[in-house]
Amino acid sequence: MAGNNRKFFVGGNWKMNGSKDSINEICGWLTAGDRGDTEVVVGPPTAYLGYVQEKLAGSGVYAAAQNCYKVPKGAFTGEISPAMIKDIGCEWVILGHSERRNVFGESDELIAEKIEHALAEGLKVIACIGEKLEEREGGQTEEVVFRQTTAFKDKVKDWGKVVLAYEPVWAIGTGKVATPQQAQEVHASLRTWLSENVSPAVANSLRIIYGGSVSASNCKELATQGDIDGFLVGGASLKPDFVKIINARKA
Ligand code: PGA
Repeated sequence: MAGNNRKFFVGGNWKMNGSKDSINEICGWLTAGDRGDTEVVVGPPTAYLGYVQEKLAGSGVYAAAQNCYKVPKGAFTGEISPAMIKDIGCEWVILGHSERRNVFGESDELIAEKIEHALAEGLKVIACIGEKLEEREGGQTEEVVFRQTTAFKDKVKDWGKVVLAYEPVWAIGTGKVATPQQAQEVHASLRTWLSENVSPAVANSLRIIYGGSVSASNCKELATQGDIDGFLVGGASLKPDFVKIINARKA
């Protein structure tokens, strides 16, 4: 969409990977590398969230939780709350990742409730959506991503604190990246949907980032697409090439 001033956004989702040693290395090259004007957030495993938050403090790179629950506290073994994420100084949380949906069975409704609570507690949210292979092959891509985004819409009051991550499930961790045209097509449809169902202002200002097998070699072409405002990166965010992805918009 022409005339936007959406800041390029790159998130690194470390998933259940890392150790103190490897995290020290990652934080080293991440903070030393040129990041231009790109907004950069990385999601360590919960065990290391506070450690990474402290290591990155003042660097301009921010730490994100990979998940959280929908209430402030209580008898929810294994969960963390937005209040805790804020208490250790973090501002971001990733919600609705396909692994949360498909490995741990999270529903559209639960994810939307988590987003509502995280926003109410003052966190910023990377909200993830995306279709499975059989849904794409069945021509249901739009239906699925619109359904997932509708669940968010009903709960989000301030879209200014949300980044929407379109991550086709068939592209995540498979090495099978969406083509720039495939990604752009879905991003553009989402923007039209947002314009019609939320508001033209939100459609124009919301960052819609792409995720799924993004690498240093495919990021530049994806980044030329008008409706792709950045990336959510899994595997490649653990390696120094991540800095190239952060700088995908640079000549
Ligand atoms: P990938 O993961 O880059 O390893 O495909 C992306 C994601 O799950 O966010």
